[in-house]
Amino acid sequence: MQTTFSENWRQRRVAWQNAGLGLLTLLLLPSCHPAGTPDPAGPTTLRLLVEADATGGWAEVFEGFERENPGITVQAIEGPAATNTREDLYVTAFLSGGQIYDLVMADTVWIPKFAVAGWLADLTDKWSEEQWSRFLPGALEGSTFRGRIYRVPTQMDGGMLYYRRDLLEKAGESPPRSFDELRRLAWKLQSPSRLWGYVWQGRQYEGLVCNYLEVLRGYGGFWISNDGKTVGLDQPAARASLQFLVDTVGTISPGGVTTYSEEESRQLFQSGQAVFLRNWPYVYPLANRPDSPMRGKVGVVPLPAQPGGQSSATLGGWGLAIAQNSPHQEAAWKLLEYCARIPVAETLYRRAGLNPTLKEFYESSPDPMVRDLHRILRHTSPRPMVPQYAQASDILQRYLSSALTRRLTVPEALDGATRETRLLLHRP
Ligand code: GLC
Repeated sequence: MQTTFSENWRQRRVAWQNAGLGLLTLLLLPSCHPAGTPDPAGPTTLRLLVEADATGGWAEVFEGFERENPGITVQAIEGPAATNTREDLYVTAFLSGGQIYDLVMADTVWIPKFAVAGWLADLTDKWSEEQWSRFLPGALEGSTFRGRIYRVPTQMDGGMLYYRRDLLEKAGESPPRSFDELRRLAWKLQSPSRLWGYVWQGRQYEGLVCNYLEVLRGYGGFWISNDGKTVGLDQPAARASLQFLVDTVGTISPGGVTTYSEEESRQLFQSGQAVFLRNWPYVYPLANRPDSPMRGKVGVVPLPAQPGGQSSATLGGWGLAIAQNSPHQEAAWKLLEYCARIPVAETLYRRAGLNPTLKEFYESSPDPMVRDLHRILRHTSPRPMVPQYAQASDILQRYLSSALTRRLTVPEALDGATRETRLLLHRP
């Protein structure tokens, strides 16, 4: 008997809490039917690896799809939280040559590598140009590589600065526009209220790169030029921006910030223990939920920039791609079409805080919170769209983390990162 998505979800959640084990399990599963030949008798199962769905937003979407499409089941396997770790699991699955996943819930930065490797179906001609233009330009940009579209974007992300509106108003201050101002305000407001001034994501993972890039651009610097040829990490702006982050540790940011990813920093802020937070849009609706102690007390503005630098929100986001080797291309596309509907976007936003990618969602919303988010998300900066992105990011993560934990000085760390990145990009 076919199980429903929710039954499946619960079973899988327990069985595959550890996604490494999950992958192994899938690799060892006896293959019911070889790649490329859909089972004509049985129902179609679409498999994908996802982030833990704590809010149940995606579960609701997949259940709705299953109700509308009897005979298609979605099997979402919960993987580890960090994007790069889930990426590794997808990569291992594709390199194994087996038909393990039908869909890829893909981060923006995975697209070039997965596209070059031939792992994703080219979706460009599935819709007309007009249909694709229903999406925000940033979301579409993050789904495109060398002019071809490989993903239906379902979540648009950009870094932003959250602040305690109540505390700033009480102190007669406005949100900071420069990093110097951020430091000053964090100091000023954290002491009397025994809070931390500024929380962000300092763990050694992809999120750290996103955080650093925003400060780096805010100081007028760059990581890798658009043509992928020049590395800017040995420039003064790169040093000044990393020094800014190093100096926050243990002063305006908790020492533990070097182990934080998105959720640790959100929880600290949402429980009222920090004045400023750098994070993605999903925090805004969550912080304003009826059960949140911060409801009505939170403001959001673009990230600061020093004079001469540029306020920058790292472009992030997620979307559904179809594995090139899936035997269920048609069923998979049905799901992608389903996920591009306004009610789905509303469910994901309402339940999980996932920021929609459809222009119409913003244009028709009377909610001031949605308009705030839209304003900030209009100016996002992509990470380098190079196929070697994962390696470049790994180099940067390692060296940034060494500086933040004071194993290397800022110049040592950035010189090391520059050297390794140049070697990587110029490797024939
Ligand atoms: C968010 C972004 C994603 C980014 C990740 C880093 O999930 O959407 O693009 O890579 O955070 O942690």
